[in-house]
Amino acid sequence: MVGGSGFLGLEITRQAQLAGHSVMATFHTRVPPIPGVGWRMVDIRHRDDVTALALQTRPDVVINAAYRQSDWATTADGGMHVALAAAAIDARLVHVSSDAVFSGTAASYDETYLSIPSNRGDGPMPQRPSAGPLMLSSSRSPDARM
Ligand SMILES: NC(=O)c1ccc[n+]([C@@H]2O[C@H](COP(=O)([O-])OP(=O)(O)OC[C@H]3O[C@@H](n4cnc5c(N)ncnc54)[C@H](OP(=O)(O)O)[C@@H]3O)[C@@H](O)[C@H]2O)c1
Repeated sequence: MVGGSGFLGLEITRQAQLAGHSVMATFHTRVPPIPGVGWRMVDIRHRDDVTALALQTRPDVVINAAYRQSDWATTADGGMHVALAAAAIDARLVHVSSDAVFSGTAASYDETYLSIPSNRGDGPMPQRPSAGPLMLSSSRSPDARM
């Protein structure tokens, strides 16, 4: 569980533990409160660190809920690093959407929706692809879904 110390990640970590899964979760700055979880510190802006962690732990499933508001390096580049690491170990990737993937104007989204983000980071808007295609193109899985 990448971003396991966050609002969403903490609840997914709890639920996964309750369901009997062996859970390893990451934090960046916040000390996580749940015992019984293999907590690891990682900064997903650093691709080599993310890859190393994946190779060390080799989870079957990687869930990414790490993000930092308006921080493209974390939300988009970091998400791509997580996707590449998951592909390197043939893990299934579940990436939680942020406003760097979908705008949030629709009530719900499915796999057929085009990625039209409201947040493209701080760079020039037209020159920045959204995080969605970046992450999908990073995945080796033919059934990759956002
Ligand atoms: N909250 C909601 O209701 C909701 C609903 C729908 C979708 N989402 C989406 O779900 C995702 C998570 O939302 P949230 O509310 O759970 O956010 P959050 O509480 O702010 O948690 C963000 C997580 O990302 C981690 N993180 C931040 N920068 C990082 C970095 N450079 N490297 C590694 N980890 C980093 C944080 O770690 P530390 O705290 O340890 O620094 C924390 O675990 C977002 O994409 C959001 O758009 C949230």
